[in-house]
Amino acid sequence: MNAQAESYVTDDGRTIGPTVMEMKNITLRFGGVKAITDISFDIREGEIRAIIGPNGAGKSSMLNVISGFYVPQEGEVWYKGKKRPPMKPYQVAQQGIARTFQNIALFEGMTVLDNVMTGRIRQMQSGLFSQALWKGKAEKEEVANREQVEKIIDFLEIQHIRKTPVGRLPYGLKKRVELARALAAEPSILLLDEPMAGMNVEEKEDMSRFILDVNDEFGTTIALIEHDMGVVMDLSDRVVVMDYGKKIGDGTPDEVRNNQDVIDAYLGVAHD
Ligand SMILES: Nc1ncnc2c1ncn2[C@@H]1O[C@H](COP(=O)(O)OP(=O)(O)OP(=O)(O)O)[C@@H](O)[C@H]1O
Ligand SMILES: [Mg+2]
Repeated sequence: MNAQAESYVTDDGRTIGPTVMEMKNITLRFGGVKAITDISFDIREGEIRAIIGPNGAGKSSMLNVISGFYVPQEGEVWYKGKKRPPMKPYQVAQQGIARTFQNIALFEGMTVLDNVMTGRIRQMQSGLFSQALWKGKAEKEEVANREQVEKIIDFLEIQHIRKTPVGRLPYGLKKRVELARALAAEPSILLLDEPMAGMNVEEKEDMSRFILDVNDEFGTTIALIEHDMGVVMDLSDRVVVMDYGKKIGDGTPDEVRNNQDVIDAYLGVAHD
């Protein structure tokens, strides 16, 4: 029997399920540049899976393949046991995969509340036509969406800024609002591209706690790119290491920390 099909319980009491997503031999080129070369790895249900590696290694490109922003020239993406046909990002989102961006992508002029509401688009069933015909249904939906959004806002402790335009917030809080928007979609997989980049120590601690709480309380599977090794080693169940578009390591934090290729390419050298 395939070991990946079996669930197990972590030291801290979380249940990790079978494989939910599998990248098989992914190759992605931009003209002459090979951003990803023949990479395979899997993500298990309920897992916190980190992707690390030097600048330009291809980490964001890999998240972009998962989220449907880039279509690889070679390889297959398997999701919940099925090969995924080429999909647009909105179709991937409809399958329950949400993301945040390396560079914050929020509506700066809009309030925190309205930004988080935009994360509910997938749940908004009523189009304009049905809204006109069945006003009651649309209203019920609006109330349900509001409730979910308020729940997320409470969860991430941003009640006090819910009416503040995002443009006025400090960087650390903007990152948290972006997380809130992704969570508003109630994803089963959450993709986080450097959620702690540019944060001070205290902000990083807060964000780490929120990521762990999301995983633990909502059972959300998380794929995370992060440069801070302390954070990666603390948070993640397993780590994929990329370098120049290739996979050079894959395993538990301890396995990766002791992998000589990883030490030579990444851990042994200074990086941001
Ligand atoms: N849209 C694009 N067009 C052309 N080249 C690209 C594009 N996106 C990424 N690349 C190239 O692909 C390679 C991998 O980039 P990627 O952004 O995935 O790296 P990364 O590991 O996320 O790096 P960083 O840690 O700096 O964010 C780089 O050489 C980059 O210049
Ligand atoms: Mg990147």
